Amino acid sequence: MNVTYFGHACFAAEIGGRTLLFDPFVTGNPLASAIKVEDLKADYILISHGHGDHVADAAAVAQRTGATVIAPYEVAQWLGKQGAKTHPINHGGGPDLGFCRVRLVPAIHSSSLPDGSYGGNPGGFVITSAEDNFYYSGDTALTREMELIGEYARLNFAVLCIGGNFTMDVDDAVKAAAMVKCDNVLGVHYDTFPPIKIDHEEAIRKFSAAGKRLHLLKIGASHKF
Ligand code: NI
Ligand code: MN
Repeated sequence: MNVTYFGHACFAAEIGGRTLLFDPFVTGNPLASAIKVEDLKADYILISHGHGDHVADAAAVAQRTGATVIAPYEVAQWLGKQGAKTHPINHGGGPDLGFCRVRLVPAIHSSSLPDGSYGGNPGGFVITSAEDNFYYSGDTALTREMELIGEYARLNFAVLCIGGNFTMDVDDAVKAAAMVKCDNVLGVHYDTFPPIKIDHEEAIRKFSAAGKRLHLLKIGASHKF
């Protein structure tokens, strides 16, 4: 499965000729100035929670592309008011899109929307398909809930937050990878702001010491998992 990283926690996964775009945040990301919001492709936009660094460009990309936004109920309602086509979901559920199945799983975090309105509960996603399965943690602390994810599906890769301060740090993400039984990790939610800056080599070394591979993609770069 081809995955492209757009900085922070924004990435696109191509499955069965469709593009799932996660947590679009280019406008306001100081590291993503080379990415143009107008160039982002999407058939579906998946939003983990309501924070600005996850929803910033969601309405604009949804309007331009006609993509359906799949998000926790309250976030979907909020984006719907801005003209996005939406499919609201909640923990434990999610649609079967035909080419893949989407499940919203718990995340330990918070979820207010940029204008202060209530964003419901934050989540992560498990995507299963005939081709590949993967987990995107969203913003979360390490939690034993993750053990269930390893039982749902054999994951080809996991997209985990690693920057610390607001989410798991590298050490917790290594444990998360073990809990979801996955050796191939794409790191997200690091370096964007001073409190989440990490040492790349040390992070890669820590995963490697646990028998796992951490991928830190350049912004705009793609990798086939
Ligand atoms: Ni957040
Ligand atoms: Mn965040």
